[in-house]
Amino acid sequence: MLIRTSDFVISNTDVSKCPAQNLPEYAFIGRSNVGKSSLINMLTGRKALAKVSGTPGKTQLINHFIINNEWFLVDLPGYGFARVAKTVKDKFQTLITKYILQRQQLVAVFVLVDIRHEPQKIDLEFMQFLGVNSVPFVIVFTKADKLKPGEAEAHVRRYGERMLQEWEELPRMFVTSSAKAAGRDEILDYIDQINRSL
Ligand code: GTP
Ligand code: MG
Repeated sequence: MLIRTSDFVISNTDVSKCPAQNLPEYAFIGRSNVGKSSLINMLTGRKALAKVSGTPGKTQLINHFIINNEWFLVDLPGYGFARVAKTVKDKFQTLITKYILQRQQLVAVFVLVDIRHEPQKIDLEFMQFLGVNSVPFVIVFTKADKLKPGEAEAHVRRYGERMLQEWEELPRMFVTSSAKAAGRDEILDYIDQINRSL
């Protein structure tokens, strides 16, 4: 897919105020600092469409971007950031849950996982939540440039093995690096394929 236009539409703390257009929507989520905003910028080819931060927990809103006037890309707040008060954390949790369960236009969730780390409970639990609620999702491994190529493969394999303790099938997995623009075509083609099938 060629990205012709990508524009910020609106930030929300209220699911009911998200854009009313009936366009397919793809949401990006993961632990704070996993590289969501960087990935969104990499996918859209824009340097600063989504704000990249050194401070975890910066994206605290549901951010809608419209791509090619055809589909929405959504930047969701990061979950599990340690340096934010519990009351604030709970608020985002509710926001994320509401969005995922109520948003009719949501086609698939892209769960971002830092490729360097062992499978984390919070990510596995979040995917369980998606599974239980029949929300389609894929995994996007981020920051692959921080590992050697062989290491990246081994980490992905290990992640899959861990998931198969709980899942019958593995979700689609993408290995990406925003720093090297790796995985861009694969993700965009995947979205394109779904959009065409709708
Ligand atoms: P919050 O919105 O704060 O939860 O973070 P986020 O998930 O949007 O992460 P963000 O894109 O802001 O990136 C966090 C940090 O990781 C920044 O310092 C980025 O430069 C860095 N980073 C993100 N993606 C990559 C990548 O592919 N490679 C490398 N080397 N660094 C990355
Ligand atoms: Mg962000």
